[in-house]
Amino acid sequence: MSLKVAVVGSGPAGFYTADALLKSEDPPVEVDVIDRLPTPWGLVRLGVAPDHENIKAVSRAFEKTAARPGFRFFGNVEVGSTVSHAELDAIYDAVVYTVGAQTDRRLGIPGEDLPGSWPATAFVAWYNGHPDFQDLDFDLDTERVVVIGNGNVAIDCARMLALTAGELAPTDTVDAAADAIAASPLREILMLGRRGPVQAAFTPPELKELGELAAAAPVVDAHDLELDPASRRDLEADRDRARRNFELLEEFAERADDDAARKIVLRFLVSPVAILGEERVEAVEIVRNELVEENGRIVARPTGETETIPCGLVLRSVGYQGVSLPGVPFDEGRGVIPNTGGRVDGAERTYAAGWIKRGPSGVIGTNKKDATETVDLLLDDARAGRLSVEATESLETLLDRKGVRYVEYAGWQAIDAAERAAGEPRGRPRVKLVAWEELLRAGRPI
Ligand SMILES: Cc1cc2nc3c(=O)[nH]c(=O)nc-3n(C[C@H](O)[C@H](O)[C@H](O)COP(=O)(O)OP(=O)(O)OC[C@H]3O[C@@H](n4cnc5c(N)ncnc54)[C@H](O)[C@@H]3O)c2cc1C
Ligand SMILES: NC(=O)c1ccc[n+]([C@@H]2O[C@H](COP(=O)([O-])OP(=O)(O)OC[C@H]3O[C@@H](n4cnc5c(N)ncnc54)[C@H](OP(=O)(O)O)[C@@H]3O)[C@@H](O)[C@H]2O)c1
Repeated sequence: MSLKVAVVGSGPAGFYTADALLKSEDPPVEVDVIDRLPTPWGLVRLGVAPDHENIKAVSRAFEKTAARPGFRFFGNVEVGSTVSHAELDAIYDAVVYTVGAQTDRRLGIPGEDLPGSWPATAFVAWYNGHPDFQDLDFDLDTERVVVIGNGNVAIDCARMLALTAGELAPTDTVDAAADAIAASPLREILMLGRRGPVQAAFTPPELKELGELAAAAPVVDAHDLELDPASRRDLEADRDRARRNFELLEEFAERADDDAARKIVLRFLVSPVAILGEERVEAVEIVRNELVEENGRIVARPTGETETIPCGLVLRSVGYQGVSLPGVPFDEGRGVIPNTGGRVDGAERTYAAGWIKRGPSGVIGTNKKDATETVDLLLDDARAGRLSVEATESLETLLDRKGVRYVEYAGWQAIDAAERAAGEPRGRPRVKLVAWEELLRAGRPI
């Protein structure tokens, strides 16, 4: 008899988990991958920037997993509302949560919720066509946008805002976002890092791209590259990310692209203390920081020297954040499902992988090793006889009983085909379906 496993979440962690499970011969495994959306791939579809089509191509590997015997997909099924953890627990021998990090980390400063101050999570979901984020009103009728944070998501947001209509045209950016970006009078995209250039979280290939845009150019003040002794020491010890980032920033500081239509200004050692405005965002108040060592880590400490920067839009890109699922243990402080190597602490036959297991960091490939670790423990538990359930019904009978319009893998393939067909005449990889009803109609024609 095969082991029956539910994998909740169809992003990279979900697919790497499914793949490792489906390769098992002892015991053989059947996998149902469940997602709240009608479409699979998680952040590969709805996070990775539309101008990075080559990265999105990792979904071809996931398609191979979906073609393995024993694989099924159930889209439009949200665990915690459509079905509960207890219901899955009664159907499956084991449940693996790979639900990612569904919200944003907060800054906790005054004005954070003023209209015009947005989490990067929402901006990214909007331009990528996430059906829950299409009604948001991103007003790009401004000359300056401030992006808070120094990670790769901040770089993605800054770069997307800097693209020309010509650069956006061959991508699958949703039309509303592409039109708004191209039509914006934007002159400056200001990225604020609370620590110095050596501590920046972004990676060299992503930083380098800022210097390769059609009509935008990066701007760095050479004074921001004068290092304190601890940063200098870290830079000298580094052979990889920080070193290469620093070299790129030095190159940017030497450039004089005064005629660039849009400037991407990178500033360091500044933190926002308030977002200001009457009805909506009008400015950001920032404080200059200095770096100090605390418990072996270099942290930013405010100097008290402040400055007010006028702007019309703020994107807060300071990290994603996991959310709790009813009936599943959750560590509020870390925003993860507490686990030991992927076995969920305090819940039998329950596992986690990906961002919900270790927090919102790491690239797509990081989730493969992480998923394998979880699956190894799950299969150990199965072989030790710790995972067996007398299921009384199947997921599809439960969903039918509840009247749920779930989308199977063939339904996703129909959505995929419709999107690609719409993209083809326009020279785009696809034109995404972005409304729930459209997606459900294409994925589950009645
Ligand atoms: C904006 C952005 C851009 C990125 N770009 C790159 C890049 O270019 N290259 C790179 O290597 N990495 C990139 N990454 C990192 C990469 O996307 C992540 O490492 C990876 O997606 C994490 O995988 P995951 O499966 O844990 O989560 P996710 O990809 O977020 O997948 C989670 C899935 O769970 C589903 N889900 C959530 N809650 C429920 C529920 N209650 N019930 C059912 N389903 C649920 C979601 O709908 C989603 O499909 C990027 C990340 C972000 C945020
Ligand atoms: N192209 C790609 O490969 C790609 C693209 C996008 C995302 N990703 C990956 O996805 C993961 C998530 O990316 P991310 O950018 O969301 O997270 P991240 O890499 O953790 O970066 C978060 C940034 O926010 C800053 N920050 C946190 N709290 C802050 C505060 N209160 N005030 C000011 N700044 C604050 C952090 O600064 P400190 O360092 O000082 O904490 C850091 O610069 C990363 O692993 C990333 O590499 C990859």
